[in-house]
Amino acid sequence: MRLVLLGPPGAGKGTQARMLAERFGAAHVASGDLLRTAVKEKTPLGLEAKSYMDRGALVPDELVLKLIQEHLDSANGGRGFILDGFPRSVSQAEALNRMLKGRGVSIDKVIAIIVPDSEIIKRISGRRTCRNCGAMYHVIFDPPRNPGICNECNGELYQREDDAEDTVRMRLEVYAAETKPLLEYYRRAGLLVEVNGVGRPEEIQEQILAALGGENAKVRDARIK
Ligand code: AP5
Repeated sequence: MRLVLLGPPGAGKGTQARMLAERFGAAHVASGDLLRTAVKEKTPLGLEAKSYMDRGALVPDELVLKLIQEHLDSANGGRGFILDGFPRSVSQAEALNRMLKGRGVSIDKVIAIIVPDSEIIKRISGRRTCRNCGAMYHVIFDPPRNPGICNECNGELYQREDDAEDTVRMRLEVYAAETKPLLEYYRRAGLLVEVNGVGRPEEIQEQILAALGGENAKVRDARIK
């Protein structure tokens, strides 16, 4: 199972990727999460990435590629990977092709989650994340049992700094300019599947599973039983 999830900020890539990774036992490789960990740990890469992330710009390729490469290496021996937030530009997609070719593997499918801007703003403004374990909530769509406290570990929930309105606007512009062209790139490669990202997370997951079809559906059914 080697998938790429594409979509604008707040489309639900992380939500769907976690569900898929759990279902298929694949690694969830989320470039944004890896970068936020590097920032939190104040690694040299994190310190350099922070200024780009704070203003909603893309982090330079050489930093992101290094992180992804390390995590693909650790995921390669397992049951595949779900890439979330990477690639984010045609140059990153080409770099990914080279990385995978070097490992003798390829991508099975690219899932694009389509969500209108009005829904994105609602989702991002209500998102809360656990500082401790990274679990994610939404104040309206998926609230924690106790406001501000993680159900899983009692950690403190916080709002991401790049979820401020101006920064979200910038992230949407960057998505339109840099990432949206990837839809056509992967459509031409015969890998793209578009799913409607509006609805309950479980409904969207079903659409993705239906798009995966065949052998993957059998794996899914075996695991559900
Ligand atoms: P990143 O962390 O990747 O952010 P993003 O792509 O903007 O995506 P988000 O994490 O905001 O949203 P999501 O689609 O995962 O939605 P989620 O599931 O959380 O990147 C952050 C920054 O890092 C970038 O701006 C850039 O600076 C840098 N970066 C990262 N990767 C890079 C790369 N490859 N190259 C260069 N720079 C890079 O859902 C959002 C909310 O909605 C949640 O609250 C959730 O609970 C809720 N929700 C989810 N699904 C539903 C649903 N179906 N209905 C209702 N609510 C829902």
